[in-house]
Amino acid sequence: MDVTQHGPVAILQSTVNTALNHPLLSLLATLILVCVYTRIASGIRYSAAISNLSQSSTGPKTVPILPYWIPWLGHGISFVSGGTSFLTREARSLGQNGSIYALSMANSTHNVVTSPSIARQILIDRNSPITMEPFVYHTMKTFWDDHGSIKAVEPNALWNNIHGVLTGMLRESFVTTAIKGTVQRVEERTWNLVSGSESPVDQSSWERLANVEIISKGSNDDSFVAEASLFPLLRYFVGNIATDVLFGHNFIENYPDIMQDLFEMDSRFNLFLAGTPSWIPGMASASMARERIINAVLDHHDAYFKYVEGQDPGPRWSDMSDVSTVIADRAIEFRKAGSAPRGWATGNGAILWAMNINANPVIFWMVRYIYSDPTLLEEVRREVALYVRIKNATDNGLPIKEAPRLDIDIAALWTKCPLLKGAFFETMRLEAASMSYKMVEEDFVVTESEQDARMLGKNEAQSYLLRKGELICIPHGVHQSDEKYFRDPERFDPRRFWAKDVEKDNSGGEDVRVEYGTMKVWGGGKQMCKGKTFAEREVVLFAAAIVMQWDMVPVGNGGKWVHPGRKVGAGAVTPVKDVRVRLSRREAW
Ligand code: HEM
Ligand SMILES: *[C@@H]1O[C@H](CO)[C@@H](O)[C@H](O)[C@H]1NC(C)=O
Ligand SMILES: *[C@@H]1O[C@H](CO)[C@@H](O)[C@H](O)[C@H]1NC(C)=O
Ligand SMILES: *[C@@H]1O[C@H](CO)[C@@H](O)[C@H](O)[C@H]1NC(C)=O
Ligand SMILES: *[C@@H]1O[C@H](CO)[C@@H](O)[C@H](O)[C@H]1NC(C)=O
Repeated sequence: MDVTQHGPVAILQSTVNTALNHPLLSLLATLILVCVYTRIASGIRYSAAISNLSQSSTGPKTVPILPYWIPWLGHGISFVSGGTSFLTREARSLGQNGSIYALSMANSTHNVVTSPSIARQILIDRNSPITMEPFVYHTMKTFWDDHGSIKAVEPNALWNNIHGVLTGMLRESFVTTAIKGTVQRVEERTWNLVSGSESPVDQSSWERLANVEIISKGSNDDSFVAEASLFPLLRYFVGNIATDVLFGHNFIENYPDIMQDLFEMDSRFNLFLAGTPSWIPGMASASMARERIINAVLDHHDAYFKYVEGQDPGPRWSDMSDVSTVIADRAIEFRKAGSAPRGWATGNGAILWAMNINANPVIFWMVRYIYSDPTLLEEVRREVALYVRIKNATDNGLPIKEAPRLDIDIAALWTKCPLLKGAFFETMRLEAASMSYKMVEEDFVVTESEQDARMLGKNEAQSYLLRKGELICIPHGVHQSDEKYFRDPERFDPRRFWAKDVEKDNSGGEDVRVEYGTMKVWGGGKQMCKGKTFAEREVVLFAAAIVMQWDMVPVGNGGKWVHPGRKVGAGAVTPVKDVRVRLSRREAW
């Protein structure tokens, strides 16, 4: 087309004609134009904000929003599919401008905080005008499909009485009871993590899910070599005990597949949160799993209410004395607040979920890291041996012998085993990339520390303005993999979290303190992980018991432990590849 000869009117006319003749093509062209325009406009805004950052005006800076192509949706696709790795890439490429940056998603601004001092200010400072409530409502609506029943609970009752029960989980009284029950089950069952039964019919659920195969039998009934997929083996072994401790043994007996449903549902967490409807392929089985969980908790709570009122809940619920106080108290508070049954079913289902999506994979990763380093394995065993002992079964004179069991000193595992504890912290640093999400209630200013500014190579600390209605995303994994704070970040170093002053007195032993430092894997503030005190004991407990009771080598990869890759989800990462191992029992130490 010759522009000079025909003038603008003719151009317009011919464009309109082309568009009418090729509607699909012109739709495509329009979309591309809109995207290009969006990219240019957001790019200009971004450059202006970046150049503002270096100006030495005193006031707080505007957080730069990264440029994006797709209107409204913005960075949504990259965020949902890439998670923490996407956020880390962006933070690193921003260099010294990366302490805080923003994404635009679904027409809202998400401020991504990577500087530990700013994260600290947001999470810990009680005066920060932030709330997680809209996010909790959103999760309950999209992930739990609560049919609006949580939103319908009177806010005062929800956030004080019902949510308040969770705070009790951090107290010693809850932890002592819950941990005692967990220790007892671990003492009894670790021997039969793999039972030696060849037929799936005789195997436990976690053995079947881990495809346990007996490779060879030893001299006596107790000794054998078995192959298993380590991740499902541990995830379900732990999940079974955790569910039992939280909801009582009747629940796991009546609903033996509840953990499978929970992980099925969790596998679509990001898609649910993004509002993906359940008829989309791949969502149906997760939605059905969710419905089964909700019905199971409904059934359990029905029975529990009968039980507390002195009525007979029926033969399937013959003993409800071991329902944990958290679940019991929350059920009662929900009912007092006039909640619909679906409110308590989803609300307490969420506790079961929170209990299993982080701790179980962390236990898998920790066990894997310890076995993959023979020196560390040897050292951990030596450190732990006094506190995890094996008790030979007393001869009961019957043909079927009782199984041996462990005798575990849980308090000592936590306070006297710095290598075990250090391995736990380091495992979380590498594999628990949790995220805290908050909403800004009033405009407020956050300021990074001098030290963090220096780490980024800046001369002075900067302040940033966060505006009312914006969201804050704190991806803890971005900091946890930052080489400026954790030298050689990919390396597993169980002594990394040992307090610095021990270097002067490197005798090791029980005086070494293991500290979280700048790592905030438990989140913080009002919504801080309520399972922290429990999970800390739980993880070292399972890891120590397994490490003492079992020998393990990987199958394939020439007998080497190869990192199986990281799949990101709502909780700790899960392995991409199957980790097949060969296990045999240790019968004495
Ligand atoms: C290694 C294991 C675990 C890790 C890394 C972890 C991490 C977290 C994180 C990051 C949060 C969100 C905090 C925030 O938004 O700032 C959270 C919340 C929560 N976690 Fe954990 N968690 C773990 C184990 C557990 C366990 C075993 C339980 C239950 C016994 C539990 C119960 C909860 C609950 C109830 C919440 C919600 C708290 C609230 O909304 O007030 N967690 N957890
Ligand atoms: C740049 O800073 C000035 C004042 O310091 C402010 O008025 C302006 O809105 C800022 N521009 C951007 C894009 O952040
Ligand atoms: C950081 O911002 C400054 C201006 O404030 C700019 O000159 C520099 O190129 C930016 N660095 C990166 C890595 O984007
Ligand atoms: C996006 O948000 C702004 C203000 O928050 C609002 O005025 C606008 O209508 C929204 N646009 C869409 C398409 O939702
Ligand atoms: C337990 O039994 C094993 C072999 O069956 C034996 O080697 C070990 O010494 C016994 N331990 C104790 C404490 O009796």
